[in-house]
Amino acid sequence: MSLEAARIVAGVMQKKHNAVLGLATGSTPVGMYRILADMNKSGEIDFSDVTTVNLDEYYPISPENDQSYRYFMNTNLFDHINIDKARTFVPDGSAKDPDEACRDYEKALKKVGKVGIQVLGIGQNGHIGFNEPAKNLEVLTHVTKLTKSTIKANARFFESEDDVPTKALTMGMGTILRSRKIIIMANGEAKKDAVAAMLKGTINTSCPASLLNLHKDVTLICDKAALGE
Ligand code: GLP
Repeated sequence: MSLEAARIVAGVMQKKHNAVLGLATGSTPVGMYRILADMNKSGEIDFSDVTTVNLDEYYPISPENDQSYRYFMNTNLFDHINIDKARTFVPDGSAKDPDEACRDYEKALKKVGKVGIQVLGIGQNGHIGFNEPAKNLEVLTHVTKLTKSTIKANARFFESEDDVPTKALTMGMGTILRSRKIIIMANGEAKKDAVAAMLKGTINTSCPASLLNLHKDVTLICDKAALGE
């Protein structure tokens, strides 16, 4: 999975200078980041002219906190490649005014231009980024409250469930769907129901990932356990 995803991302970078990569956190893409860093070391791909935009960040959280998505991106990718960190964007989890931070993020996204490829994971409840299942989904980057199930699922990275931030800043569904190309990665049985809901052939905001059916260039990369029947 990691190799296949890395190949697709590298292909986008090799095809176009100044590529804009949309990146995701979570355990799923970690192997892909390792391979991309190796490909960078061996000279296969060059990040010197690349811009990255991340999907989401907890709120409130400081960028130095080792559970922040900024910290995750630095340690899993940016510290190991020849990227200019000034060209790496993650929503500001330490902003005083989170709504303003979201508006600023949309402005920054407009400035960097169209995302060439957006990498996504999927939550056990079908969320992408932190767009949680709900009656209404937001179009643009916004502040969101995490569901109990997401807090529980992400507690494994924190000392206790109480330490998981209850809010996040996330790209909206429209922000995500704007990208030219999307890959979504899922592995393990825990993702089976979410993947099934996404592939069912209907679109429902109770499975935000099902909205990806509206996009014309999405690749699902998953293992047998996540694909189920
Ligand atoms: C997190 C992130 C998502 C990620 C998902 C799955 O909460 N906000 O971007 O895709 O949950 O994480 P994991 O890959 O660890 O299963």
